[in-house]
Amino acid sequence: MKTIVLASQKGGAGKTTLAAHLAVAAEKAGDGPCVLIDTDPQASLAAWWNVREEELPSFAPATLKELPGKLEALAKAGFVYAFIDTPPAITESIRTVVAQADFVIIPTRPSPHDLRAVGRTVELAADVGRPFAFAVTQAKSNSRLTVQAMAALSEHGVVAGAIVHDRVDYAASMIDGRTVLETGPRGRSAGEVIELWAFVKSRFIDSKKARNQKGTQNG
Ligand SMILES: Nc1ncnc2c1ncn2[C@@H]1O[C@H](COP(=O)(O)OP(=O)(O)O)[C@@H](O)[C@H]1O
Ligand SMILES: [Mg+2]
Repeated sequence: MKTIVLASQKGGAGKTTLAAHLAVAAEKAGDGPCVLIDTDPQASLAAWWNVREEELPSFAPATLKELPGKLEALAKAGFVYAFIDTPPAITESIRTVVAQADFVIIPTRPSPHDLRAVGRTVELAADVGRPFAFAVTQAKSNSRLTVQAMAALSEHGVVAGAIVHDRVDYAASMIDGRTVLETGPRGRSAGEVIELWAFVKSRFIDSKKARNQKGTQNG
């Protein structure tokens, strides 16, 4: 099982929205079964899942203390991807969650405030030695700020080419436990979520390739 953690110090960056959307995108792409875990005391992701009618993706309650054991059990149960939502802070507890990640996604709004706060999340991922990438979220269309933000972020790490734009359907779709993939499967928002999932998935394939190449070189 691959564990994907959504983390960023900034509240409102889009962690919860992306956790739900990426898990649904993965299920719809046939890459599941997927499981969601909410480590934010505000429990927005859990609340979303509770009003959701569809069974998939699954949801697994877990306290921070239980997390390592829980992930092991979920892997044994056959889940392919786990998506973990986190609170907007940099605390020791988030550090332990990020340490469990196979991949960390850092949702970032293209705003000066959010960009200034990126450093600490990157430090955290670097500290625990986990691969990560930025995902630009809530971007205004045709905004120079988005281009500038992507350039600035790329100095700190990989930036997903798929940009999630600022659209009401992202928020509106989640009211009754759905995502844009269900409320507007042919819409632009659905298209960018599908593209973002393809990017995240490709990071696992790339890292596997890199490992295999290394193995070949070593003998
Ligand atoms: N791409 C988007 N377009 C429009 N609104 C969004 C988008 N992503 C998130 N939102 C809204 O912004 C707010 C914060 O998003 P959320 O995912 O809860 O962030 P976080 O979990 O990082 O605090 C929510 O009200 C959410 O509905
Ligand atoms: Mg949240």
